Amino acid sequence: MYNSKITGLGFYVPENVVTNEDLSKMMDTNDEWIQERTGIKERRWIKEGSEDTTAVMGAKASRIAIERAGLTKDDIDFIVFATLSPDYYFPGGGVQLQEMLDMRTVGAVDIRNQCSGFIYAMSVADQFIKTGMYKNILVVGSEFHSGGLDKSTRGRGVTVIFGDGAGAAVLSRTEDNTKGILSSHLHSEGKHAKELIVESPSIMHWVPALIAENDENDESYYPYMNGTFVFKNAVVRFSEAIIEGLQTNNLEATDIDMLIPHQANLRISQFVQKKFKLNDDQIYNNIMKYGNTTAASVIIALTEAWELGKIKDNDLVVLAAFGSGFTWGSVIIRW
Ligand code: UT7
Repeated sequence: MYNSKITGLGFYVPENVVTNEDLSKMMDTNDEWIQERTGIKERRWIKEGSEDTTAVMGAKASRIAIERAGLTKDDIDFIVFATLSPDYYFPGGGVQLQEMLDMRTVGAVDIRNQCSGFIYAMSVADQFIKTGMYKNILVVGSEFHSGGLDKSTRGRGVTVIFGDGAGAAVLSRTEDNTKGILSSHLHSEGKHAKELIVESPSIMHWVPALIAENDENDESYYPYMNGTFVFKNAVVRFSEAIIEGLQTNNLEATDIDMLIPHQANLRISQFVQKKFKLNDDQIYNNIMKYGNTTAASVIIALTEAWELGKIKDNDLVVLAAFGSGFTWGSVIIRW
């Protein structure tokens, strides 16, 4: 059995900054409410007319990650692409990346696990490397939320939270089994699917019927979130996933050098930080700048923390996420 190690990281966010003040001009909200409840100051939203899409942003982040890995596109054996906002209903974003990066006809798979998408994607890639099937896998999380949000007051409980962006990692085979991904832990609980959902369009709510109805009051196109319920589940599941990962590896919370939690809400991260008694330099948050970018959030935060020199050789790095599905999980890495 081999281990997989992160050899390259990259991220890309659109240049268009949308502040809380900007949102208050679109809907009945204000900077104080947003900062107090979520910690978010601003987020990036793709500007109308921009070339950026979920796949395009994913490709931009990927090019950086591949170069930093010291590899070329031809060294990549497989693509794992996590998103809840693919450019098309089908085919998925993975095949778009294969084309955009002009890669060999390597396999490409999409992961549809929302906020925990990157954790699932890392785990999937890790299994392919551990078994020896592939050597270098491109793992991407990318999200274009802003085009699908309700920007009226009706949508304010959801819309102020989400941002656009992408991140990518190259996972490579190593024969040193003390380094790299030590374990990953995945969970789901589908009975809560409707607590955080976009219901249509779908096969059940098919497009011609929607067009025929042309009902402006139909909210099912927009994300629905039972925020308080999701929050309460998030704090519990985040903690469980971290404990599960630590226990599997006979580690304690004091062993954590860097926790990268999914950037859902700064208050959730602070709760987890307090619970595990972590200092400010043992956790990295950037939701203040980018909002919640779902499948992209963990990899954007990981990349930024690494770029800032906050992650060093041999550090114990813990990734954890929770979101729609519900799905949640963790990845434990020895850097
Ligand atoms: O990433 C996937 C997982 N997602 C999460 O983990 C998110 C978890 N949930 C949350 O982060 C929080 O529940 C929210 C930030 C979404 C909402 O915070 P909350 O403290 O749970 O607020 P609430 O939904 O209970 O709403 C409180 C009040 C309501 O007004 P009334 O009924 O008390 O008069 C809302 O209508 O705040 C109002 N409100 C707003 N006011 C100003 C809701 N959204 C806004 C807004 N601006 N944007």
